[in-house]
Amino acid sequence: MTAPRPQFCELHLHIEGTLEPATIFDLARRQRLQLPYADEAELAAKYRFTDLQSFLDLYYANMVVLRTEDDFSLLAQAYLDRAAAAGIAHVEMFVDPQAHSERGIAERVVLRGLQRAIDEAAERHGISASIIACVVRDQPVDSAERMLDAVLDSGVPVIGLGLDSAEVGYPPSLFRSVFERAGEAGLHRVAHAGEEGPAEYIWEALDLLGAERIDHGIRALDDPRLVQRLVADRIPLTVCPLSSERLRVVDDLAELPLRQMLDAGLRVTLNSDDPAYFGGYLDDNVEAARRAFSLTADELALLARTSIEASFLSDDRKKELLRAGA
Ligand code: ADE
Ligand code: ZN
Repeated sequence: MTAPRPQFCELHLHIEGTLEPATIFDLARRQRLQLPYADEAELAAKYRFTDLQSFLDLYYANMVVLRTEDDFSLLAQAYLDRAAAAGIAHVEMFVDPQAHSERGIAERVVLRGLQRAIDEAAERHGISASIIACVVRDQPVDSAERMLDAVLDSGVPVIGLGLDSAEVGYPPSLFRSVFERAGEAGLHRVAHAGEEGPAEYIWEALDLLGAERIDHGIRALDDPRLVQRLVADRIPLTVCPLSSERLRVVDDLAELPLRQMLDAGLRVTLNSDDPAYFGGYLDDNVEAARRAFSLTADELALLARTSIEASFLSDDRKKELLRAGA
């Protein structure tokens, strides 16, 4: 008899990063939009990145096909169908409202579309999901402030505020006031930090933004005092193996300091980040990590448990999922 597969939560997933080449062409055809690529193969050939910015340029450009509430709903529906089929219990999905509002698409259109797919997926598959709106950190602070207002006014039950996009040169400290207001409004707070940027940005995310989880965070290992702090405060790190390899944060998956992180007692979770761009969804990331680090069944079960415990689910729902995976 094979051991049951542990149930994971996905805590670091950009919904726009699930936009597959086939969907881009499908949406473009429906909207009679001319894309700057002849076909899916020409687009897929561009999915070779030298760093975070080279990916972000394509990622934002491809969003041109996302215009209506139905488009966002279709995007999230396709992802959630796939996640449910892969046995994922719960997803906390990121979205970049500013990347759409700057193209004239209101935040409530984006959020309502995502929420509709979330509600339908819960009915169809029993999978749960919630939305974390991210500040696009290379846009001005007042744009982030306006985004937060629009999110809070949208009527959609967004659970958190995140921080993403180009990291180096955009320290978390820039967005202290936005995160302070988000905290006062009862939102959870998370931040990408220590992906390409220095350990100092992780300190800022914790101390100035009140981040409850750090997205990526792999540069934490450069600073032993920071590792101690993350361990002491039980701050989860949402690590994304295939992303870090494809964005050349590490030259090879085996160089990702996953073992060092686990050995240091850090609360690590595995995630997919932008699966359509980085060659795999959560199950592919788990499998890639299992192979690269020879993870045992016990270690995989620990990673799955940590993903449940590190989620923003209620304690009752966490207990239920932990019991189911025990
Ligand atoms: N937006 C989408 N994916 C991202 C990543 N890996 N880092 C920062 N911002 C992002
Ligand atoms: Zn990310």
